[in-house]
Amino acid sequence: MPEPATPATPVTFPPAFLWGAATSAYQIEGAAREDGRTPSIWDTFSHTPGKTAGGEHGDIAVDHYHRYRDDVAMMADIGLNAYRFSVSWSRVQPTGRGPAVQRGLDFYRKLVDELLSKGIKPAVTLYHWDLPQELEDAGGWPERDTAYRFAEYAQIVGEALGDRVEQWITLNEPWCSAFLGYASGVHAPGRTDPAASLKAAHHLNLAHGLGASALRAAMPARNSVAVSLNSSVVRPLSQDPADLAAVRKIDDLANGVFHGPMLHGAYPESLFAATESLTDWSYVQDGDLALINQPLDALGLNYYTPTLVSAADPQAAAPRADGHGSSDHSPWPAAEDVAFHQTPGERTEMGWTIDPTGLHDLIMRYTREAPGLPLYVTENGAAYDDKPDPDGRVHDPERIAYLHGHLRAVRRAIAEGADVRGYFLWSLMDNFEWAYGYEKRFGAVYVDYTTLARTPKSSALWYGQAARTGTLPAISEI
Ligand code: FCB
Repeated sequence: MPEPATPATPVTFPPAFLWGAATSAYQIEGAAREDGRTPSIWDTFSHTPGKTAGGEHGDIAVDHYHRYRDDVAMMADIGLNAYRFSVSWSRVQPTGRGPAVQRGLDFYRKLVDELLSKGIKPAVTLYHWDLPQELEDAGGWPERDTAYRFAEYAQIVGEALGDRVEQWITLNEPWCSAFLGYASGVHAPGRTDPAASLKAAHHLNLAHGLGASALRAAMPARNSVAVSLNSSVVRPLSQDPADLAAVRKIDDLANGVFHGPMLHGAYPESLFAATESLTDWSYVQDGDLALINQPLDALGLNYYTPTLVSAADPQAAAPRADGHGSSDHSPWPAAEDVAFHQTPGERTEMGWTIDPTGLHDLIMRYTREAPGLPLYVTENGAAYDDKPDPDGRVHDPERIAYLHGHLRAVRRAIAEGADVRGYFLWSLMDNFEWAYGYEKRFGAVYVDYTTLARTPKSSALWYGQAARTGTLPAISEI
C-alpha cells in the first residue's frame, strides 16, 4: 500500500538523524587475493559453475579497495553524514583463526579516517555473509566453534577500530546466512540441509552474543553495539485461523528465531513445536540463551518488501523462491504447510512489491517489542534497470519515489513515538548482488562495469538534498 499522497506540510526529520548509505565488503571491495586475503565462502560459491548469474563473482567487484578515497569524497559530495560498510573477515584474519593481518586492518583504518575527515560517521558491520572458507571446511555455521571464532574476530576488529568507530553491528541478516546458505542453498555455502540450517541459526545467535561481549570488552564504553535483522513483515492472505497459523510459523522462522533469544533470552516455544520433525534443539546448551541475550544499544532493521502467506496443502505446496534467487529447496524449514503469495502492487526489478507501510509496521512492532531500544533502518532500497542517458546522466525517478515513500513511512513512525535515529539507503553504488551477479542495480550511484566509473543517479542528488536539509524534497524537485 502506498503512503498517502504528498502532504502539503514538509516532511522534516530530527536534527541528529543519520542519513547514510550501506554496502558490504564482498559486494564492493574486489582485491580478492591482495594483501593476504584468502577466500571466503562467497569466493568459493561464486566461482562454482551455475551458482551466480553469468558466473559473476566479486574478484574485482567495483574495486572499492583501491578507490575508497574517491568513493568517500563522492559520499561527501552527495551529502551523506553516515556510511555503513562491512569488514571482510578473511582479509583481517585469513584462516578465521589466529593473529590478524595488519595490512587488512590498515585498509579499514584508512577508510574510517577518510570518512571521519569528511564528517561522515562510520557504522561497521562485522559479518555480512563472507565466512572464511577454512571455517566452512571445518563445519561452518552448523558447527558451534564458528561462534567462538567469530568472537575472536570481533575482538580483533574492536581493538583495531574501536577508538574511532562508535557504531557497531555484529551480524547482517542472520536469516540469510542460516536459511539461504544452509537450507535453500541460493547463497554461500550452498548447502540444502534444513536441519543444519536451524543449527546454523542457533550458532549465529551465539556468535552475536559472544561477539557483542567481545566488542564491549575491546572498546570504549561509549560505543554502540547492535545487530541488523531482516525481520519480515508477515501478513495473512485471510483471517482464516489456518492462515493465521501460517503467519505464526513464518514469523517464528523469520523473526522469533533471532529476536527471541537476542532480545528476550528465549526461543519461541511454538518454534520448537513447529520444527520438531527436523531437530530437538539439543545443541542449545545450558547458559547459551544468557550469552545470546546481551544488552544492545540499538537494533538495525533491514526492510525491502512484506511476506504474504496462507495455509497450504503440503502435497501441493511449491518450494518458494525467497527473493534472493530460486531453488528447489525451501529456505523455510518444516514449513511445507505454508504457501507464499505475491503481495499485490507495483514491483521493483527484483520482483519485490513496493510497500512502505510494511516499513512503518515493522518499526512500530519493534517499538512495542523492545521499548526504549533506539532503531536504525540499516538497509532499504530498490533495484531498477538504470541506464545512462545520451548526455551521460542517470535518471531514476522510480528510486526517488521508492525512497520518498519509505522515508515518509519512517517519519510517520517517528511521529507515532518510534525512536528511529537513522536511515541507510541500500546501496551507495551498484554492486555485486549475490546470486544475481551484477544484473540488479541497487545503487544511488551508477557504476559502469566496463570502466568502473561512478555517476551519481538523480536519486543520489535527491537523497543528498534530504540529508543536507533534513527535509524530504518533493519528488519533482530534482
Ligand atoms: C539484503 C542484503 C544486501 C543486499 C540487499 C538487496 O538482504 O543484506 O547485501 O543484497 O538485500
